[in-house]
Amino acid sequence: MASIALGGLFKSYGATPVVRGLSLDVREGELVSLLGPSGCGKTTTLRMLAGLEHPDSGVIRIGGETVTGPGVRVPPERRGLGMVFQSYAVWPHRSVEENVAYPLTLRRLAKAEVASRVKEALRWVRLEALATRRPHELSGGQLQRVALARALVASPRVLLLDEPLSNLDAALREELRAEIAALRARLGTTMVFVTHDQGEALALSDRIAVMNQGVIEQVDAPERLYREPATPFVAGFVGGANVLVGQVRDGAFHTAQGDTRFPLPPGTAAPDGPCTLVVRPEDLELGAEGTPLPLSARLFLGHAAEYRFPVGGTLLRVVGPPREVRAGEVLPVRIAKAKLFATG
Ligand SMILES: Nc1ncnc2c1ncn2[C@@H]1O[C@H](COP(=O)(O)OP(=O)(O)O)[C@@H](O)[C@H]1O
Ligand SMILES: [Mg+2]
Repeated sequence: MASIALGGLFKSYGATPVVRGLSLDVREGELVSLLGPSGCGKTTTLRMLAGLEHPDSGVIRIGGETVTGPGVRVPPERRGLGMVFQSYAVWPHRSVEENVAYPLTLRRLAKAEVASRVKEALRWVRLEALATRRPHELSGGQLQRVALARALVASPRVLLLDEPLSNLDAALREELRAEIAALRARLGTTMVFVTHDQGEALALSDRIAVMNQGVIEQVDAPERLYREPATPFVAGFVGGANVLVGQVRDGAFHTAQGDTRFPLPPGTAAPDGPCTLVVRPEDLELGAEGTPLPLSARLFLGHAAEYRFPVGGTLLRVVGPPREVRAGEVLPVRIAKAKLFATG
């Protein structure tokens, strides 16, 4: 268990900046997710933390010790980390227990000690019964459990996980997600979990760092991030809010394109001027009153339905009780709750 401090990290590949001044503190025993779209620099950040990449500038501390900094470059194997990747990365010709034992044999531990620690790690991930199997005899979820046991067997101070569930089907993903949460509660290991899946991050994390184009836009506990997004990007990425560009005039929002007008609910903090409107699909209502809009599609979701309307060059998504309506019908849409971000 150890704290982590990333301070002012920059990294470019050629002329392309990939991480642009990233700072983040992770407390001892905390699980923090790096959440963001593909290509935003999550893996690069994790690899710098692991010592597999060196930043152009910035400082990394693990457990108070500087492992990356001016003139400092502690190699990966001396950082006390375990890592799990999206690809299962197990040795195909070794059995489950040989795979898990590998980090310990590298350290030349006594055979009996290796055996007992491997057994314990396999118990953590519920693979005791499959110890002598080969990787080709295992499912994707089991392979990822082997990787998890191997990452944990040497009792790392920090566990780094890079999209470990992305290659699994939905049911397995949920199952392994619950196991990671249980393991964490049991072992108390500090974890950094990289994902592009907001549901995964919301379910697992103590805090989430939302990344966009090489910077962190917000770090907060899941509920707070969801309820109080600090930027339009965070609101759009976490919780799938509609994001519209336009301006506020006379208590209403006017889209920049097409000039659709939405009256704002009383109490909305909205000074006149250019702004970005952020409104969650469930905070829009189809009712008797509202801005008349032509429905372009209705998607049945089971417990609810999603209604789509072309507005301001994008599709406005409304989620509400299923209703019998057809594409092409004009329906009144009302904003029940919204947040506005002034744009200079
Ligand atoms: N070794 C590399 N050489 C050149 N470009 C790279 C390298 N690694 C990553 N990149 C680029 O850096 C950006 C961020 O990549 P990455 O950190 O893998 O993002 P993420 O994990 O968030 O999807 C991407 O545009 C990617 O193409
Ligand atoms: Mg990645």
